[in-house]
Amino acid sequence: MYKRSDFPDGFLFGASTAAYQIEGHSFGGAGRTHWDDFAATPGNVVRAEDGAVACDHYHRWEEDLDLIRDGGFDAYRFSASWARVLPEGRGAVNAEGLDFYDKLVDGMLERGIKPMLTLYHWELPSALADLGGWRNRDVASWFADYAEVLMGRLGDRIWKTATINELWCVSFLSHFLGIHAPGVRDIRAAARAMHHVMLAHGTATQALRAMGVGDIGAVCNFTYAQPASGSPEDIEAAATFDDYYNNFFMSGFFHKKYPERIVTAMKDHLPAGWQDDFDVIGTPVDWLGVNYYTREIIKAVDGPWPAHTSIEGPLPKTQMGWEIYPEGLLHFLRRCHTDYSGDLPLYVTENGMANPDLVIDGKVDDVVRIDYLARHFDAAKQAIAEGVPLEGYFVWSLMDNYEWALGYEKRFGLIHVDFDTLQRTPKASYLALQAALAS
Ligand code: FCB
Repeated sequence: MYKRSDFPDGFLFGASTAAYQIEGHSFGGAGRTHWDDFAATPGNVVRAEDGAVACDHYHRWEEDLDLIRDGGFDAYRFSASWARVLPEGRGAVNAEGLDFYDKLVDGMLERGIKPMLTLYHWELPSALADLGGWRNRDVASWFADYAEVLMGRLGDRIWKTATINELWCVSFLSHFLGIHAPGVRDIRAAARAMHHVMLAHGTATQALRAMGVGDIGAVCNFTYAQPASGSPEDIEAAATFDDYYNNFFMSGFFHKKYPERIVTAMKDHLPAGWQDDFDVIGTPVDWLGVNYYTREIIKAVDGPWPAHTSIEGPLPKTQMGWEIYPEGLLHFLRRCHTDYSGDLPLYVTENGMANPDLVIDGKVDDVVRIDYLARHFDAAKQAIAEGVPLEGYFVWSLMDNYEWALGYEKRFGLIHVDFDTLQRTPKASYLALQAALAS
């Protein structure tokens, strides 16, 4: 494992979580979300598990912040739940919800931890889902209004703010592949969600700027598209994947246009007037967050767009079945810097792996995770050496949590959580990072 001193002065290390995955959404007057509805529908989530209790962070946040401080982390990337702040998505504020985030942020500052806040990490209030959610253009102003309410309370103490976590997941994964809430599989819904999530990002960024909030970033997820063969068909299929997964959002933010392949495929489904929204979508940001886990091997197939499938790759895999491919992280850090974000600071805002970790004699021996992290640190170091302005790295995740459609089975944490007793046990990876960050 690297030492802190192997990285440039001021390089930050952090850990990431998200509200619905850890807090316990049945507590504290939070409103219903589309994840509660999705999980209540048979077949969507492993064992129909939901975030009602999760890690009970809502009651155990002090212990969790102590673990972040004791690990030697500089920063904590967390998110707020829209429905905890505004149970109906709009209108009446849940004072208890705002109070919770207020004391959580103070708790970070008291412990010397920099708060990096994500405004939306996927738990759309059900009341807004009823109105079409991300398919409805009004979601942009609903989101900006929520952002104003939340930052009106927290804005003076947040270190960096991200608008929406992983716009691809919010839109394509959830409205075309149907894997995440609301579980829609419809090209028209997907095209609308893809555009509206961009518009919501830009609208909220402008609203926050107008109220004096600075240091606003975008956070996207990237998956390396590897053609299954050298055939022109597979190469084109991988390029299509790369465009709708990786380039669509970056190109919208930084070039104020969408990739041609996607426009061609989706033009009949994009909302009227989409071409006129790029001045909002392209509102300058202050930094870019890169979430990276793996690559996919893309093979062309006959059928409707996007006419490809993912096949199993040869590399060692995590508990998710995801190939371990640190070269992809280096690739995207280079690409973001060169093609999109230029000299803006970059952060790896998520990287990590799931592993079926067990507590044995009070210990969790997750050596594979230590190796995974070290290999991705290699990629980060290489990027820095090449001049990429990478300024920090956040591990996903601080602790085992609700892994969405896969329930509580996939363990991404540096800290093990027993979901019966809710006991936290730092894993070997946490202890290795703690030693590295102290040195
Ligand atoms: C990312 C999500 C995060 C978690 C990890 C494994 O796509 O942002 O909530 O699910 O994947």
